[in-house]
Amino acid sequence: MDYLTGRKLGADTIRSFALGFAPKNPSDGLYRFLKSKGISDDLLRRSGLMNVDERRGTMYDKFWNRVIFPIMDTSDRIIGFGGRVMGDGKPKYLNSPETKIFDKSRNLYALNIARKTREDYLILCEGYMDVISMHQAGFTNAVASLGTSLTPGHCALLARYTKNVILSYDSDNAGINAAIRAIPMLRKAGITPRILKLEPYKDPDEFIKALGHDAMQERLRNAQNAMMFEIAVVKRDYDLGDPDGKTQFFERVAGMIAALETEMERQNYIDAVSREYMVEKRMLQELVNRNLVLGVTGLSSQQSSSAGHRSVSASDDGMDDYDPQSGYGPDDPFAYYGIGPDTEFYQDESTGSMYQAPPTAARNNRLGNVKQQGEMISRQLLLNYIAQYPSTYPTVKQYVSAEDYGETDSLTGRVAQLIYDQMEKNGKVDEASILSRFPDAADQTRIAGMFHTLDPASSRTEREKAIRETLLKVFSAASGSAGNDLQTVIRRKNQEAQLRTLRITLD
Ligand code: GTP
Ligand code: MN
Repeated sequence: MDYLTGRKLGADTIRSFALGFAPKNPSDGLYRFLKSKGISDDLLRRSGLMNVDERRGTMYDKFWNRVIFPIMDTSDRIIGFGGRVMGDGKPKYLNSPETKIFDKSRNLYALNIARKTREDYLILCEGYMDVISMHQAGFTNAVASLGTSLTPGHCALLARYTKNVILSYDSDNAGINAAIRAIPMLRKAGITPRILKLEPYKDPDEFIKALGHDAMQERLRNAQNAMMFEIAVVKRDYDLGDPDGKTQFFERVAGMIAALETEMERQNYIDAVSREYMVEKRMLQELVNRNLVLGVTGLSSQQSSSAGHRSVSASDDGMDDYDPQSGYGPDDPFAYYGIGPDTEFYQDESTGSMYQAPPTAARNNRLGNVKQQGEMISRQLLLNYIAQYPSTYPTVKQYVSAEDYGETDSLTGRVAQLIYDQMEKNGKVDEASILSRFPDAADQTRIAGMFHTLDPASSRTEREKAIRETLLKVFSAASGSAGNDLQTVIRRKNQEAQLRTLRITLD
């Protein structure tokens, strides 16, 4: 009680969130209590509330000497617990593990209360205490994820209640990065996100304690448009005091604006950006137009965002642009995007969309990066082919090893290793089991993107050629780091010659 009242929580709040305490002694109090109710060890083990000492075969309470935050589902049933140390111990919060009834990506803290709000939006916070402070101050439409980062499952759940979400993450770097990850995920679920400014305070709890209800209400009313927030974050990468830095920044922003679906949206953002960043509308308009002419190509289907953002679906894959006279044969995997074998393109990190590099000075600075992006897409496409057409694997592995996809600590490198292992063991790839190895939601999104990299080929023969071309690209890119002793160089030259005439047949 001292801890909770010290954090300025009133009796009503403590009661409505059912806050409690797990005592320090005895360390098996809950275990013994539940045993006295006739509950079996097996069920206790599966409850997630016990630590099991497998060697001795004994069980202890998982939560002890902690303030307890019960987690409820939307029907007010308790499905898990968070427990906070009173002070500076580690870990600060301990959460129930996922169990049969506790699915962290399909539940949100306090949604059982927030769902009854009369407001037309929900507030998404980072922590339990943030939510509780918000509710106590009258903002009963606040929720939080359960000690994990936001997942598409959470977004779908939010979308069942509202299309408007105000992100109220911590104002530190970690919070900003979490917001940058959350925004496209929320958009994809059809939600319009906005961003709450908490500066100079760290989180909503501290803000409310310092400035109170009215100030918070005012900040909520002025929550920032998500794209303007993204632009402000992108700005940190550029030195606007330097003429080139400034040009590059506005080119980047123009790319983001060009990716918007409608002329109306593009105009509104041109207005807003020119006002906020004091650039002439006419100039920004010109940059946007240039991006539009070049075209947004949306190579990576999974990552190109939806809601309000132009996305390229399989049925809208730019086939209209295909010109048999242009020299982009169907054996080039990128032919249908109107991209030639040597065209450079880059990915906008914040929207995930692919852009052709603009033919400007800025392009030269980006070239190294652009080349790497192209190579990375080829590697991901090749992994995608292995997963979809396991019969290609024996051929692929003769030329490209798991190590050729990237460092073992890079995401693509790790995924490649898992795919090769599964092919060796089972002869097929299990996407779900690979995804389950990566607890981080952002990683999962990127990996799902790899598995769903658009396959540009439409007929079997085209696909066979596309696979060979992709294999050749990945092989050539790996040659650089394969060593430059004479033997290796000659061997790889021979292999490359073989690859150029290799026939891949899909059955
Ligand atoms: P207070 O310090 O009590 O105000 O916490 P907070 O609400 O400000 O939480 P913080 O921003 O530190 O963390 C946000 C959320 O992340 C918490 O509510 C927990 O769900 C989770 N979290 C924080 N620390 C830990 C930890 O050490 N382990 C785990 N598993 N989750 C944590
Ligand atoms: Mn806090």
